[in-house]
Amino acid sequence: MCGIVGYTGNEQAAPVLLDGLDKLEYRGYDSAGIAVCDGEKIRITKARGRLKILRELTHDGRMLSGTCGIGHTRWATHGVPSNENAHPHFNEAGTIAVVHNGIIENYQKLRNMLTERGYAFASETDTEVVAHLLDYYYKGDPLQAVLKMMNRVEGSYALGIIFQDQPGKIYAVRKDSPLIAGTSRDGNLIASDVPAILKYTRDVYFIQNEEIVCMDAEGLEFFNIDGEPIWKEAVTIQWDVTAAEKAGYEHFMLKEIYEQPKAVLDTLNPRIRDGRVEIEELGMTEEEIRAVRKIFIVACGSAYHTGVVAKYVFEGLARIPTEVDLASEFRYRNPILDSETLVIVVSQSGETADTLAALREAKRRGVRVLGIVNVVGSSIAREADNVMYTWAGPEIAVATTKAYSTQLIAEYLLAIRFAQARGVVSQEETDEMLAELRRLPEHIEMLLGHKEKLQRFANRYIAARDVFFIGRGIDYAISLEGSLKLKEVSYIHSEAYAAGELKHGTISLIEEGTLVAAVLTQEDLYKKAVSNIVEVKTRGAFVLAVTNVGNTEVEKAADYVIYIPETYKYFTTSLAVIPLQLFAYYVAIGKGCDVDKPRNLAKSVTVE
Ligand code: G6P
Repeated sequence: MCGIVGYTGNEQAAPVLLDGLDKLEYRGYDSAGIAVCDGEKIRITKARGRLKILRELTHDGRMLSGTCGIGHTRWATHGVPSNENAHPHFNEAGTIAVVHNGIIENYQKLRNMLTERGYAFASETDTEVVAHLLDYYYKGDPLQAVLKMMNRVEGSYALGIIFQDQPGKIYAVRKDSPLIAGTSRDGNLIASDVPAILKYTRDVYFIQNEEIVCMDAEGLEFFNIDGEPIWKEAVTIQWDVTAAEKAGYEHFMLKEIYEQPKAVLDTLNPRIRDGRVEIEELGMTEEEIRAVRKIFIVACGSAYHTGVVAKYVFEGLARIPTEVDLASEFRYRNPILDSETLVIVVSQSGETADTLAALREAKRRGVRVLGIVNVVGSSIAREADNVMYTWAGPEIAVATTKAYSTQLIAEYLLAIRFAQARGVVSQEETDEMLAELRRLPEHIEMLLGHKEKLQRFANRYIAARDVFFIGRGIDYAISLEGSLKLKEVSYIHSEAYAAGELKHGTISLIEEGTLVAAVLTQEDLYKKAVSNIVEVKTRGAFVLAVTNVGNTEVEKAADYVIYIPETYKYFTTSLAVIPLQLFAYYVAIGKGCDVDKPRNLAKSVTVE
C-alpha cells in the first residue's frame, strides 16, 4: 500500500504534491519522491525515510520548478526501502516518470522480457517494468502506450504517469488499487485517496477498474480499456479531512478490520498457481522441506496467537511436530534445535525486540529461520534466512487485525506447501483447500456485514468487569486472540481458557451474568464444547457462541449465537475472529476508549 498524487495546473506543482503526500503518509512512509516537469524536462527528487526528508531536500518543493508533476509515498513491497527503490521511476532516457500503488504480479516475467530487449533496471521494484514497458510501446501516442502496457501487466495498480514530450499532461489508470481525480479552478489532480486533495477541491471523480484519466490544466478526459472516451460525474465530498484519512471510518482499527478481505486476497493470490501452493520466497528445495523434522513458531502478542493456530494446521496437515513459543521465553529456555529444525518467526512490524532476539539466537545455533513479516526491509526481514511477506499494507491501529489475518494465511499456505512436498495430502484435498482459501475474502466480507448486530450486542457489555473466552483445539487459539483484542482496546479484564480446563479453577470466577464467549468451529469437538457451555450456564453465565452455520444445536445451550460460513476445518480462525474483533472494537468505543492508541501499548515493541 502506497500513496500517489499528481497535479497539473497554474500553480507550482511540487508544494501541492508535498501537501498531498503529507495526507497520504499513513499509507506508507519508508520513502517518498516527486517528479516535476517544467515544460521541457522531468526532474525527480526522492529520499528514503519520512516525507520531511524530501521536504528538506527540495526546500519545501521550491527546488523543483514546473506546474505538472506526480508524487509518491512508499510502503515497500518489492525491494527494500532505499533511494533507488523509491518512486517515481523513470524509463532509461528519463522521459517517462511513473508512480505506482499496488503489486505487478508478473513483473519478473516482464523484467526478463525487457532485459532481453536491452532495457537496464535501476531498482528492484515491480513498478520499474511499467516505466520501461511504456517506453517500449510509446510511439507518440500516450494513450495507446498506456493501453498496451495495461494489456501486459497483471496484478493491482494505481499509476500516475507523465511524459516529457506531453508537457502539462498526466495520465492515470487503476486496477484493484484506489484512485481518484479531482478538479479545481487552479488545476486538476489525481490521488490514491481523498484527503490528499481536499485542501484544493471537494469535487472528485472515482476512477473505476481499468479506466484511464488524462488531464491537463484545463480539464480531464476519461477513457475505457478500449481507449473509448467515457463520461463520468463528479461527486462532492462532504467529510472533513481527518475522517477522510480514515476513508470515512471513525477509527483506523475499524478501517483495518474492513480491509481484511483485500489483505487476505493479496497475501493468497501470488502464491497459488495451477492448483498448487508456490512460495518462491521460501527458498527451500523439495528435499530440504522433506528434511524438516521439527518446526518452532516464535512470536509475540497476536502474532504468537497465529502460531498457536498454525501448530494445529502444521501438525494436522503436514504431520510435522510443531512447537509454538513466546519469543521472550524461547530465547532463554535453551530449546532443542538441530539441523533438521526450522524456526519460523512471525511479526507484523519486523522490529519486535524479543522476536528479533529469538531469531538471532536460532541463527547463532545454525538453524534456518524463516520470517513471516509485514514490513518490507524491517530488521527481521533483513536478518531471517528467508522472508515470506504478508501483504496487509501499513497497519496504524495498535491492536492488530488485518496483519493477524494475513499471518494466518501465510501459515496455512506454508502448511499446505509442506504437506505437498511431503506427499501427505492428495491433489483432491489440496484442490478443496485452495478453493476454500479463495472463498475466505468473500466470507469475511459477509461477516463484516453483520456489524450493527455486533454493535448492539457489544453495547450491553460496556460495563462488564470480566469476560471469558473458551474453546477447544483451534477454537482455543481463536479464543486467545478474541480475549486479547477485547482487553487491549476496552480495558475489560478477559481471559481465554481451553474449554475443558475451565473447571480446574477458573470456573470459580463465573457469576450471575458473566459473559462467556464460546467458540465452536471444530465439528469433532462440538459435543464436548457444548458440555462446557452448559457448565458455565449452570453457574449463571451469559453465553455468546460463535459457531459454524448449521450447528443449530448450540442454540439450545447458548444465549446468543453468531454463525460463521462453512469452511475447511483448519481455516475457521480466519472467520471466527471477525465477530470477535468487531465485538472488542464496539465495546471499546461504547466505553469511550481511545481504540487506535490504547493506554500503555505500542505498535512496535522494540524493548525486551
Ligand atoms: C505489540 C502489538 C501487538 C502485536 C505484538 C507483536 O504488542 O500491540 O498487536 O501482536 O506487538 O508485534 P509484531 O510487530 O512482532 O507482530
